[in-house]
Amino acid sequence: MAVRTLTIDGKPVSALEEQTVLDAARDAGIEIPTLCHLDGATDVGACRLCLVEVVGTNRLLPACVTRVAEGMQVVTTSERLREYRRMILELLFAERNHVCSVCVANGHCELQDLAIAQGMDHVRFDYLFPKHLVDVSHPRFGVDHNRCVLCTRCVRVCDEIEGAHTWDVAGRGSRATVITDMNVPWGSATSCTSCGKCVQACPTGAIFRRGSTVAEMDRDRTRLDFIVTAREKKQWIG
Ligand code: SF4
Ligand code: SF4
Ligand code: FES
Repeated sequence: MAVRTLTIDGKPVSALEEQTVLDAARDAGIEIPTLCHLDGATDVGACRLCLVEVVGTNRLLPACVTRVAEGMQVVTTSERLREYRRMILELLFAERNHVCSVCVANGHCELQDLAIAQGMDHVRFDYLFPKHLVDVSHPRFGVDHNRCVLCTRCVRVCDEIEGAHTWDVAGRGSRATVITDMNVPWGSATSCTSCGKCVQACPTGAIFRRGSTVAEMDRDRTRLDFIVTAREKKQWIG
């Protein structure tokens, strides 16, 4: 396995050639904000929160889908990046009804944590306030499409880790929504094994356990890490 040397925020870093800038940065203890990235699932570069600057290119590149390269000089914090990240977060808050005070994930939400970390104290865009459904047809879980940021973490975890492929995305742009099976109510989706991995994977209050009330929806991410590690090491076999 070939090794590449690069700098991230001026710090010399070595990484394997197949590693992404995000992996290399995290291994070096440099934190880059992410939303659609989920350890153990394929990266899709959907949210653009992990954008970084690379010396020599004017474009901002998503760290989660950009491979390291020899001599690369990566910058993860700058005024331009802070402004982009803040704008992306403001657009997400403006797109659906993220009213944190009445959300099951209040206090345990990655979107909320990112907004606080980026110093987002107001939204400069008009709120769209679309009306999206809340589906509580599943006996154990529910999905509130108003809280969905279309990160597709549920889609990937259900497909790649559980192997059920219950979730998908239908529609385009602001009308896009995650769906279960052929767009049937979740409770009628026969592919769902009720494993709860999508509940663990969702970064917001969009997918929740039924019966959770405001701010009660905490997650145990170590459960997903445990499954991913056990799968990679083939611990189920033998
Ligand atoms: S509970 Fe499991 S099988 Fe059902 S949708 Fe979620 S991840 Fe897929
Ligand atoms: S339901 Fe949750 S995990 Fe799925 S796309 Fe929406 S925010 Fe992401
Ligand atoms: S975490 Fe990289 S684009 Fe979302």
